[in-house]
Amino acid sequence: MNKLLALLGSILTFSLIAQPLTVEFSNSPSRAVDQHVFFVNEAQTKLLPAALVDLNKQSNERIMKLINHHDFTGKKDSILHLEMIGDAEELLLVGIESDASLTPVDLHNLGGKIAAALKSTTRNLNVTIYTENLPQNSAAHLAMGYQLRHYHFDKYKSEKQDSISRLTLVTDDIPTNKQLFENDLTHIAKGTHFARDLAWEPGKSIYPQTFVDAVKALFKGVDKISIDVLEVAEMQRLTMGALLGVGKGSIHEPKLLVVEYRGGIKGGAPIVLAGKGITFDTGGTSIKPNSGMWAMKSDMSGAAAVAGAVYASAMRGEKVNLVGVMPLAENMPGSNAIRPGDVLETMKGTTIEVMSTDAEGRLILADAVYYAQQSFQPKMLVNIATLTGSAARALSDEYAALVTRDFTFSTEIMKVGEASGEYVWPLPLHPNHFDQLKSDIADIKNSGVGNPGASIGAAVLGTFVDEDLPWVHLDIAGVDWLDSATDTAPKGAHGWGVRFMDQLVRQYK
Ligand code: BES
Ligand code: ZN
Ligand code: MG
Repeated sequence: MNKLLALLGSILTFSLIAQPLTVEFSNSPSRAVDQHVFFVNEAQTKLLPAALVDLNKQSNERIMKLINHHDFTGKKDSILHLEMIGDAEELLLVGIESDASLTPVDLHNLGGKIAAALKSTTRNLNVTIYTENLPQNSAAHLAMGYQLRHYHFDKYKSEKQDSISRLTLVTDDIPTNKQLFENDLTHIAKGTHFARDLAWEPGKSIYPQTFVDAVKALFKGVDKISIDVLEVAEMQRLTMGALLGVGKGSIHEPKLLVVEYRGGIKGGAPIVLAGKGITFDTGGTSIKPNSGMWAMKSDMSGAAAVAGAVYASAMRGEKVNLVGVMPLAENMPGSNAIRPGDVLETMKGTTIEVMSTDAEGRLILADAVYYAQQSFQPKMLVNIATLTGSAARALSDEYAALVTRDFTFSTEIMKVGEASGEYVWPLPLHPNHFDQLKSDIADIKNSGVGNPGASIGAAVLGTFVDEDLPWVHLDIAGVDWLDSATDTAPKGAHGWGVRFMDQLVRQYK
């Protein structure tokens, strides 16, 4: 598993971590299993499913006794965790209301819940999930959810949690589930793990060059991919003064990373995904307060999610032309850094007065989205960025902020969130938000006066996006880092956006 990530370790100055997990699909559990997982509805807590009847007998009816003892009624999402039942070290009974209504997202959440509920994390797990009583394809989706949740970042700990897990899904339909998982769903989980790894990784080791190295290693050997890196000289030639300006305080040069996947019809207009890649955000000259600044190591989450999403599409051979655009810079103070009041010339030819060097995401994205439109004539443009504290305060961990130019389109895009399990909620874009960007000495300024921060940030970007182009702006400042675990993610780096953009590509390709 994750050979690519393991390989990375030898190439880079930092190594990404593999999450050892083998996933198999089987008609029956073939070997001694340590952890058994069964789904039960209410009726089955009275009359056990066939596969459980044997275990119950083996254990002198202990399962039935414990079900009664714990008053376990198979209520939706409830889990009964039993230990040392017959040969089984752990036994999970997972309540489901009715099998037929389980959506893919429900199954991802259930798979993740199972991974989180297993207690023996210090040794090798050998888990079997029995899915025969669930609808077709359930096994594959459960496996994806399990894989999503099966993640930890302990590369800097002396004591590793190096257990190897083997997950077997018992199903009546091996080929369909195996195919769906191995050719499709597992790549979404891997893309998400990739994004998390980069977000967890300290700024000391992730900077524009190592970000590029990591993405190149991820795509090594992947079909129909071409990778282009614009260096400083090339960006100067294109007068990308905004992106270059943000990078000036750092010893690490900024870069514009472009990953192109050509899986669709030749010459067909692509979908462009543009992600903010600030490898560390000190705020620059407008320096941030000390407290919490460490978390700004994850200010490249948007770019990392873009790489992960393009990876998922490419690995399953999606019939789409897709371009990932990742402006990369480290926002540092220093004698060479830009100052508040400086004026930058963008690739579009317009100028931006920098009111705050901490509103840097919109600066690097301004040049990136303009470049993307000039070079690729996309049919749709998606921005994803940890752009504003304002979005985080408004929506926290539950929803990413969604900004488009029209509410009907926003409600359509909300459905992408519902189908992917990564939810978005619309914030407005009003003509006044653009008016607030009027500058005394330049064409626009990079921040308005006070509220509403997320919309003002979006308005800066909107200035660089063709009005006729379907445009989706996602502000993930709240969702990129989790204060507590969800079903499909441990706390910390979320990898938010890989699943959302993957779903968007499926729907709008
Ligand atoms: N990277 C931050 C946004 C952020 C804040 C992400 C909190 C995650 C958690 C961004 O670059 C920033 O500093 N934005 C400023 C903009 C302001 C100066 C107009 C903000 O939101 O305060
Ligand atoms: Zn900032
Ligand atoms: Mg947060």
